[in-house]
Amino acid sequence: MGRVVVVSNRVAVPRRGEPTAGGLAVALKDVLKSSGGLWFGWSGETRKEPTSRETRRIRSAGIDYATIDLNEQDHKGFYAGFSNATLWPLFHFRLGLMEYDRKHAEAYRRVNRDFAEALLPLLGPQDTIWIHDYQLIPLAAELRALGAKQRIGFFLHIPFPPFAVLSALPDCDKLLKDLLAYDLVGLQTRRDLAGLVNCFSEGLGLEVDAEGGVRGESGGHMRRTQLAAHPIGIDTRGFATLARKAAFTPETQRLVKSMGDRALIVGAERLDYTKGLPHRMRGVAALLANFPEHLNNVTYLQVAARSRNEVASYRDLKRELDSLAGRINGDYGTFDWTPVRYVARAMARDTLAGFYRAARVGLVTPLRDGMNLVAKEYVAAQDPEDPGVLILSQFAGAAETMDGALLVNPLDAQAMGETLDRALRMPLAERRDRWTRMMSGLEEQTAMRWAENFLTELEELPLSGEELIWA
Ligand code: G6P
Repeated sequence: MGRVVVVSNRVAVPRRGEPTAGGLAVALKDVLKSSGGLWFGWSGETRKEPTSRETRRIRSAGIDYATIDLNEQDHKGFYAGFSNATLWPLFHFRLGLMEYDRKHAEAYRRVNRDFAEALLPLLGPQDTIWIHDYQLIPLAAELRALGAKQRIGFFLHIPFPPFAVLSALPDCDKLLKDLLAYDLVGLQTRRDLAGLVNCFSEGLGLEVDAEGGVRGESGGHMRRTQLAAHPIGIDTRGFATLARKAAFTPETQRLVKSMGDRALIVGAERLDYTKGLPHRMRGVAALLANFPEHLNNVTYLQVAARSRNEVASYRDLKRELDSLAGRINGDYGTFDWTPVRYVARAMARDTLAGFYRAARVGLVTPLRDGMNLVAKEYVAAQDPEDPGVLILSQFAGAAETMDGALLVNPLDAQAMGETLDRALRMPLAERRDRWTRMMSGLEEQTAMRWAENFLTELEELPLSGEELIWA
């Protein structure tokens, strides 16, 4: 295997005193370490001056990190604009929240070009380049325009919608053509793969061949792009160990003590409208309204880490949640029982691991999600002797494989209330049976295996099948 170069908008540069990286970053770092690799991306800093090609380099634990600062205005249009107010809602099927501004689309291109210009001088001819997520779709096309011939793979961490949805984006064919500059495009699920295949067919008139690839023109060349579903996993053993240890931390002990005999329902994610947090709160309210035996016997803890505050729809969501949590507590709470504990801040990974283990129910109900690793972490964190129940949205990518979960449609608050009641009353034998099924799947499909499978498929493809179609 040659050197692997990972590119993502955010780079998990190790910093003293910062909490340990999540499972995905750990898996990527393991791959990078074994290949003497490089991780390239945005430094997290913006500047008034135009973006410079100069990179900041550090080397830590056998991995090179190279980052660039971005021009402030460009970053705004690229990140808060096109990436998170256009592509993010679009790819999550939320056309009503999607904004479009041609200036943002231009900034998105410009930043991808800046990335390409800064990265190119760092590349060797034998490198394998692996680009991540929706912020960087045009990066391979920009690299190829500068002459890059290496194998380039792309993995989309979020859903891929069908053409009926994608076509709401002006110039969406440009984005599809950008994907043709890759040798391999990986998606989370079969549903996302079907969405992309449908977009190539209806948007560009390109059909998938028997081996699952498409041939099309990119930058004046005919190229072949392999398409594949590569569902992402977690560091299952590592998270299970973390949770086992975390059960004895002061935080988990305090939480358990504060619960008394009550059952804990837990939810934890970024405060994002794709996660269906208001719907979830309405589901909990439906449980309390329709199953009074749970009044005073259950507590729902929702951790919602503030995110993308520069985008208006995220600020609106925060206000909605604040008021909903207050309303449910006002309607159902008593002087010594708060049904909803709502924490709009991030929490350390090991604290969360302990909380997951202490929870009888993991409530993971996004309106749309690429995979959802919290669902997997909740399961990995359980005590095998007395595991909790996972309630999972049918719209999470994880629902394709986690067959031991209770599936719900988060739009149906009454059904969510009924499912919560069922989970809270589920006998131990059924809980164990469901948990064992899910856990064996998680032990197979780890983050490490995901990374290895993707890179193996990429490296086994014939090197850049480019054919010049005009001179
Ligand atoms: C999702 C995206 C990632 C992104 C992360 C955090 O998981 O798929 O690409 O990095 O959210 O969002 P942020 O906007 O803070 O990078």
